[in-house]
Amino acid sequence: MRHLLSTQELTRTEAIRILDTSAQMAATQSREIKKLPTLRGRTVVNLFYEDSTRTRISFETAAKRLSADVINFSAKGSSVSKGESLKDTALTLQAMGADAVVVRHQASGAPHLLAHAGWLDAAVVNAGDGTHQHPTQALLDAYTLRRHLSGTGLEGPAGSRPDDAAALGADLAGRHVAIVGDVLHSRVARSNVHLLHTLGAHVTLVSPPTLLPVGVGSWPCAVSYDLDGTLAGHGHHGGVDAVMMLRVQRERMSGSGTGGGAFFPNPLEYARKYGLDARRLRLLDEHAIVMHPGPMNRGLEISAQAADSSRAVIVEQVANGVAVRMAVLYLLLAGTEDTRTATDTTIE
Ligand code: CP
Repeated sequence: MRHLLSTQELTRTEAIRILDTSAQMAATQSREIKKLPTLRGRTVVNLFYEDSTRTRISFETAAKRLSADVINFSAKGSSVSKGESLKDTALTLQAMGADAVVVRHQASGAPHLLAHAGWLDAAVVNAGDGTHQHPTQALLDAYTLRRHLSGTGLEGPAGSRPDDAAALGADLAGRHVAIVGDVLHSRVARSNVHLLHTLGAHVTLVSPPTLLPVGVGSWPCAVSYDLDGTLAGHGHHGGVDAVMMLRVQRERMSGSGTGGGAFFPNPLEYARKYGLDARRLRLLDEHAIVMHPGPMNRGLEISAQAADSSRAVIVEQVANGVAVRMAVLYLLLAGTEDTRTATDTTIE
């Protein structure tokens, strides 16, 4: 793997390798080995043209735990505001010796351009491009699903080590995930649909018709407008193992001053038809979990009761993101080394 740009490009073998490596990385953290020497001397640049809390901090933490040097570049306050192009920014990073560039950009396709234009020798990781892809979010979601659906949470079952084979989570094949809300603007939905399909899971998208993209019919998933029916298992694939709520992306919508893709829905109407609340939680099977990539609009796509319920794994998703991003950086920058050796080595 040279770059990580899209879940659509990942084979099942590559995806499982990342998820298994993530479990090994998580095991080092639970063994109180906070720092590995694996990427000592390497430089990871976080190149963020759009705001982020979770993804940027998570990549920074992951890179530091692998002993890489980290440069955080935010477009705000940089020469981008003076009109510097993506190409000239990339050439600057190349001159500074970046080994990996983690890029978030408002334009769909910007990471692909960085990876393939010949401006950089670095590995490029897509940290979210426009409405297109957010592959590490989908990977951390799959990692979280694997752990929960194999009967383990963050700690694993009593007596198990988090890197035991059973705790890794065997398989998502045949599992059913509902992805609910603003699919039109969601790179998280696109990345998850493709990754979950590759891993053999069934996905049902539940969304108002106005927030579904043109061409969704060709995606490898089912589509429904009936949230209650989907959660209660009335759809083709039966009950859901997880419900993943999507943020309503006001900033990409008309009437917000910046957007243009769709009109911002009436909040009360939206919450009534497509929000996850306490009543809808009761429709779920006992084992089903509630996910959200964050940041959440509490009271819109998810109520406070649902977000804070015992079924919600939203904070755990964030924690799992560090292990997954450690795995991605490790596989891109040192992936020919033996993973066990890399994760068994500590530094003072
Ligand atoms: N889930 C996610 O991408 O969150 P941030 O925008 O805070 O990075």
